[in-house]
Amino acid sequence: MVSLFGKKSSGWIGIDIGSSSVKLVSMSSSGNQRQIDSYAIVPLSPTAVIDGNIEEVHEVSGAIQRGLKICGGKFQGAVVAVPSSAVITKRIQVSNLFVGIDLEEQVKIEADQFIPYPLEEVALDFEVLGAAPKDPNLNDILLVACRKDAAETREDAVNSAGVKCEVVDVDTYAMERCLTLVDQVPEGQMVAIIDIGASTLCLNVFQTGKVVYNREQAFGGNDLSQAIHQQQGMSMEEVDLAFRENSLSQEIMEHMVEPFTGTVIQQVSRALQFFYSSGIHGQLAKIYICGGVSGLPDLCTRLTDELEISAEILNPFDHCTVNRKLNAERLNRDSAVLVKACGLALRSFINRTT
Ligand SMILES: Nc1ncnc2c1ncn2[C@@H]1O[C@H](COP(=O)(O)OP(=O)(O)OP(=O)(O)O)[C@@H](O)[C@H]1O
Ligand SMILES: [Mg+2]
Repeated sequence: MVSLFGKKSSGWIGIDIGSSSVKLVSMSSSGNQRQIDSYAIVPLSPTAVIDGNIEEVHEVSGAIQRGLKICGGKFQGAVVAVPSSAVITKRIQVSNLFVGIDLEEQVKIEADQFIPYPLEEVALDFEVLGAAPKDPNLNDILLVACRKDAAETREDAVNSAGVKCEVVDVDTYAMERCLTLVDQVPEGQMVAIIDIGASTLCLNVFQTGKVVYNREQAFGGNDLSQAIHQQQGMSMEEVDLAFRENSLSQEIMEHMVEPFTGTVIQQVSRALQFFYSSGIHGQLAKIYICGGVSGLPDLCTRLTDELEISAEILNPFDHCTVNRKLNAERLNRDSAVLVKACGLALRSFINRTT
């Protein structure tokens, strides 16, 4: 079986393979204190990753290799994530008489009943959670099944960059770990993390720190950067640089960026409507925004005013120490883009048990 869970260790580098860039984050831990040691953001061409699928493994692998170099070299291993849309999770119960290979076989038999693809096409992993509360002869088991190609292309890209892929995680679990850094959410209350990247808006809702809802929409910053590229004659690289340096002209800000912010708010509102009609009861106490699009000026103020919900940028490093070699100001600017990679790096210190 592929290791979708892996074992606890320290010093694995978190690698987020996004559609516009690869992000790498390396962290260390001392007691409860986390530290960010290094990070890198390496751009990808628009054809390298499409709809969450790695189309050009060689290019992605090259980008990871460059990122590893920027992060300072040798790492014991790496953690990547598949999108939660490529994953099915289910709790099953299996007799505790099954152990070792027998348990694996039994889990496969159980899995075959609810996975809508042939078992040869899925990567399976499971974790024994403990005795079932109602029958101590059964074990509760968390089963994770993922399309094999989604897991394997990521493993291939990482391994051929020269670092061993130790764990293929799920992106929602990475977000869940980041939440432990920033928020002590009161028991029972719900908060959301909305990641708006180049091509995908992903809403994750957490209750008492555990993910209870997740949905992706095909929407992202690409729409804006493509429009600026086409209408203003700037190359995509120039647009990206202008975003980073905050140097877009007043005219572009007024006529393109400002209306786009309105579209982002509509898309967030739509995502929240889907959530509220999903049957999960309760109100969201707060939404955290991350991903490149969170860099839009005044986005959180406008979300808070127009959707009447408290919105803030997610900065996972707010309560971490920062390695002295890093430029703290630049890190602060990049933090919201590094959320998923940070959550993956935290996999070395925080394991998910339920
Ligand atoms: N200051 C900014 N204002 C608006 N958009 C921005 C800003 N900075 C970056 N972006 C946009 O954010 C996007 C990149 O964000 P991010 O790195 O989170 O995406 P990704 O992880 O590669 O994509 P995805 O998660 O959708 O696969 C690009 O479309 C870029 O144009
Ligand atoms: Mg992303």
